[in-house]
Amino acid sequence: MSEPTQLSAMSLEDAIRERRSVRGFEDRPVDPQTLRSIFELAQRAPSNCNIQPWRVFVASDGACRHLRKRLVEAVTKGTPPNPDFSYPGKFEQPYRNHQVDCAVALYNEMGIERNDKAGRFRAMLRNFEFFDAPHIAFIGMNKSFGETVALDVGIYLQTLMLTMTAHGISSCAQGSMRSYPDIVREEFDVSDDIHILVGLSFGYEDSEAPANRTRIDRADVGENVIFKDE
Ligand SMILES: Cc1cc2nc3c(=O)[nH]c(=O)nc-3n(C[C@H](O)[C@H](O)[C@H](O)COP(=O)(O)O)c2cc1C
Repeated sequence: MSEPTQLSAMSLEDAIRERRSVRGFEDRPVDPQTLRSIFELAQRAPSNCNIQPWRVFVASDGACRHLRKRLVEAVTKGTPPNPDFSYPGKFEQPYRNHQVDCAVALYNEMGIERNDKAGRFRAMLRNFEFFDAPHIAFIGMNKSFGETVALDVGIYLQTLMLTMTAHGISSCAQGSMRSYPDIVREEFDVSDDIHILVGLSFGYEDSEAPANRTRIDRADVGENVIFKDE
């Protein structure tokens, strides 16, 4: 069992390097005080004109179990997803290679073969089980905001994940949590004005979970960044 790390003991570089997507959690909740201080610190995320557009809905305990049940039911019944935001259906190179490499790395650790449809469905369903996490956060913003404001929410998401890492808490960002926003709005009694961008399962890592052996590399910086002097 991993114990919470002292927040001040971890450098920013360590937190950035140590954070990774965890897809298997212990059945052990984060204590409410720590939970609150993490979300308080993440409020320091910057945003354009400081509008702080993120709207965050955190389910723990019975609320988390109830949402898990409703979402798993929706998927297993074959309810068509109804996301507020679309995602590109297909990526061209070089993005496609990165996408495939990431899926292959995860499926290899989970022992899922390329043509194992049932295995892949099971892996997909793990998202909606929140990978057994004791907490799930849904993060959204006002429906009238476009991608420029979504940028602020993305910055918030990483600030939140790094804050969790520094507290010894693991997480997995989940675009898949966009699938059934109506269920989220209903459970949190949120108006239709709030659209859901992403979910974040979090808690203490189950270090025995095969999926958690996955390590995802990054491209050389030259693929993404151009440095120009003259
Ligand atoms: C916005 C966002 C959405 C993501 N959605 C999912 C998801 O639905 N399911 C999942 O298992 N991983 C999801 N991931 C995790 C990515 O696959 C992961 O961040 C990437 O492969 C890099 O691996 P790492 O986080 O371990 O460094 C998401 C990550 C981000 C940032």
